[in-house]
Amino acid sequence: MVQSISVGLLGLGTVGSGVVKIIENHQDRLMHQVGCPVKIKKIVVKDVNKDRDVKIDASVLTTNVDDVINDPDIDVIIEVMGGVDETRSHILDALRNKKNIVTANKDLMALYGSELLTVAAQNGCDIFYEASVAGGIPILRSLVDGLASDRITKMMGIVNGTTNFILTKMNKFGSPYDEVLAEAQQLGYAEADPTADVEGLDAARKMAILATLGFSMNIDLEDVSVKGITDITEEDLQYSKQLGYTMKLVGLANRSGDRVEVSVQPTLLPESHPLSSVNDEYNAVYVYGEAVGETMFYGPGAGSLPTATAVVSDLVGVMKNMRLGINGNSFITPQYDKQLKAASEILSKYFLRIHVKDQVGAFAKITGLFTARDVSFEKILQLPLKESDLAEIVLVTHHASLQDYEQILQQLRDLDVIYEVKSSYRIEGESV
Ligand code: NAP
Ligand code: HSE
Repeated sequence: MVQSISVGLLGLGTVGSGVVKIIENHQDRLMHQVGCPVKIKKIVVKDVNKDRDVKIDASVLTTNVDDVINDPDIDVIIEVMGGVDETRSHILDALRNKKNIVTANKDLMALYGSELLTVAAQNGCDIFYEASVAGGIPILRSLVDGLASDRITKMMGIVNGTTNFILTKMNKFGSPYDEVLAEAQQLGYAEADPTADVEGLDAARKMAILATLGFSMNIDLEDVSVKGITDITEEDLQYSKQLGYTMKLVGLANRSGDRVEVSVQPTLLPESHPLSSVNDEYNAVYVYGEAVGETMFYGPGAGSLPTATAVVSDLVGVMKNMRLGINGNSFITPQYDKQLKAASEILSKYFLRIHVKDQVGAFAKITGLFTARDVSFEKILQLPLKESDLAEIVLVTHHASLQDYEQILQQLRDLDVIYEVKSSYRIEGESV
């Protein structure tokens, strides 16, 4: 019978402080579930003299990672310091020292998850990473346990709080992009360097993790096609609204037969779609399973206590496994070999905004390109552009393959009557 469980932390920042608070404040609840006290023995930080958000005995802090990963008394290591290369090396050393790991690090898990899970299993250790996707929402556990009996065919995620916050404010109040980004940084939603947020990379890492678990195949980060929100204009948002859509940065993982596509891109969703009403910094993951049908998981995707809740719940999972003596058995080898869809197999509707010369025959030349590839229009808007001899045309297509659509776009750019292709977005969520 285990008398107590000793935990070491790598990091005591936003998430680490939340972890300390939850372990302290919920000690009774933890004891009830695992039957013994949980003690934080050591915490690795960069600067031991820094002012902290939590009261912590100075003797617990160290700058030496070896104090945690080589301490024979520490059973579980919680990695909440971030980073990839150095952190990977520490976690590999810790696993070889038979330490169970809980991490919130999506960058690390998206790039090296498969390696770390394999080394963990070889050493009889758990590595749990619920907090790496959608912060406080228990989505990984829901995919792996709650929906274990189903075959998931589609996941759509709003998995980056920063971009959802920015798009919500731009959409609702017409606020300028730069202003809202600065606000998101101030509120602590954005990463220290927000490039990964606004360029879609943060969401892509999370989608690689979700798709790997949901489809039970190894999806690498480079399998995810990525486009961020930096090119979205006020006009795009206005036309989207006028046509009954809401613009969101959507991570899409779609399976037809044995083949999958995974992408992150600004996407128009019908206003009635459940993801359209996910606003501000909130996250949500819509999951479609063949048997269960539609489900949606909603909640805070970041922040100290929400993220720490996921971390400490993982800790409880590790501790329960310790009591049962079954650590290292949670990793299930992916069931399927990865098969990615070709562009000809990816079907979607599209929104296209173009500036054209306002002259006889211009529209016929444009429609000719679509007709030649059997792509028809669902909606068309045309307005003259003020103080110019140009017109603005907004088209919504019926379903087309990505291959056909990209070829049409290329031909449109070369067409003499086209002044500029202003924007193009995928439309999703109208039918499953
Ligand atoms: P943070 O506030 O920047 O905290 C990082 C902590 O790690 C700090 O305590 C820092 O020490 C320590 N640290 C960093 N590099 C170190 C090094 N080389 N050696 C020793 N200590 C080091 O980061 P965070 O926001 O808590 O995020 C932690 C992890 O959780 C990241 O992987 C992040 O992606 C993930 N995550 C965060 C959120 C969120 O809402 N913040 C949500 C989901 C996932 P000092 O305090 O001395 O500087
Ligand atoms: N920067 C991330 C976001 C934090 O905005 O969602 C949580 O991973």
